[in-house]
Parts: sequence; C-alpha cells; structure tokens
Amino acid sequence: MSVEALARTERSGDVVRSAWWVNRPTHYALRTAQAGNRRTPILLLLCELCVLLLFLGGCAMTMEDQPRFEAQESSRFFADGAASRPRLADTVARGELRLEPLLSSGRVAGEFIDSFPFTVTQTVLERGQQRFEIFCSPCHGLTGDGQGVIIEYGMPPPDSFHAPDLRERQAGYYFAIISDGTRVMPSYAARIPIEDRWAIVAYIRALQLSQNTDASQIAPGKLPNE
Ligand code: HEC
Repeated sequence: MSVEALARTERSGDVVRSAWWVNRPTHYALRTAQAGNRRTPILLLLCELCVLLLFLGGCAMTMEDQPRFEAQESSRFFADGAASRPRLADTVARGELRLEPLLSSGRVAGEFIDSFPFTVTQTVLERGQQRFEIFCSPCHGLTGDGQGVIIEYGMPPPDSFHAPDLRERQAGYYFAIISDGTRVMPSYAARIPIEDRWAIVAYIRALQLSQNTDASQIAPGKLPNE
C-alpha cells in the first residue's frame, strides 16, 4: 500500500486491518512523511532492533552460568553437608584398574625391580625416544646429561643419568620418579600413560649404554670412522 493510499485510509477513518508489522515500513514512512522528517524510519527500526537484542541477550545462558556445585562447596541435600561425594566402597574409577602391580608400580614387595614388565623391542625403544624427547629432554637434555634448555631459565640442573649412582638405579626407580615426581620435578602420571613411562625408562637405559660403552665392546665394523 502506498503512502498516499495509507494516508487516505487513515484520514477517512477506514481502519487498515492487516497486521501492523506487515505494513510497518509504509506506516513509519507515512508518520514521518507527515512529520516532515525522512530519516526517522531507519532510526525507529534501529531502536526496535536494539530493544530486541537487549531481550535476546537476557535469554542467553552460558555453560559456566548453569546451576552446579563447585569442589568443596556445601550442600543441604546430603546429610554430611558436602556437595562432593566420597568414592563408593569397592569401586574403581574407569581406566584406573591396576591388576598388575609390577606394571603400575615398578616394585615387587615394596622393592624396585630392575627389569621390565614387558619385552623391550625396537618399537618400544623408538616410542621411548620420542616420548623422552617430548617430556624429559627440556630439563634432562637430549642425552640425559642434565643440561636441558630449562637450566637457562633458572631451574637447578638435575643430575646426569650417566652419573655412576644413577646408572645403578633400578628400572623401577625411574618408573616411580616419572609417576610420582621428586622434589622440584613434577609427577608425569597424568600426562604419560603407564606403558609409555616404561618405554621412556627403556630408552634411558639405551642412552646410558650409548654414553658409557667401552670401544672394545663394540662389534668390529660398527665403530664410527671405521
Ligand atoms: C621441568 C623439568 C623436568 C622435567 C620435564 C623432567 N624432570 Fe626429571 N628431574 C628434574 C629435576 C630438577 C630433578 C632433580 C630433582 C631434585 O633433586 O630436586 C629431576 C630428577 C629426576 C630423576 C631422579 C634423579 C636422581 O637424582 O635420583 C629422574 C630419574 C628423572 N628426573 C627422570 C625424568 C624423566 C624420565 C622425565 C621425563 C618423563 C623427567 N625426569 C622430566 C626436572 C625435570
């Protein structure tokens, strides 16, 4: 409907029956044409949009706003008043079942073992090398000499894995240090799965061999420069 036609129907008292929002642009155009201001329709539309956005904003609920309990928070629902629930007796969290204590602790009857819970193959060693270079070399150095890049940033240098007392340590000792950490070294239990920890230990053994082998032990033809 044209502005003129709408103006005529409104003046003649003939009520326009179609929904107001269908005719809204023409309607605004008419009102502003009458008021002599042509820019107002856009302004009015913008205002409407702003109000709409304000309401829409109020509807949004992000995941961090949802009703939930924080760790250590109290609760009136449970008799003990705590929202955090204790573990049920005789249950094991998914992925935490440890049926092989040797594999998961590196100890037998409380003593570190000096063997591996599975056969060390070339594939295991290669995996160990890759994991060692990712997780350990920044501090322990690529050869395990304790001269990793981190000491340039103020961390005390760890002892070299080639020092006599560390070479004598059992495989289980290395496994336990990766799992539990020691003094300033953090635990890597959450980041390195058990099998990978053993693979790293196997690679440390290979490093120790590589740095402490007498030339006479190397098969003829295998020495560099030969
Ligand atoms: C953030 C640096 C850092 C990383 C990463 C790190 N370590 Fe350590 N580690 C240390 C420091 C520092 C020490 C010495 C701790 C002390 O004596 O206070 C140490 C000590 C050790 C020891 C004990 C040595 C001893 O004196 O008995 C072993 C074994 C060891 N680390 C193995 C590893 C292995 C394996 C990895 C990789 C999975 C690793 N570390 C990753 C910093 C690190």
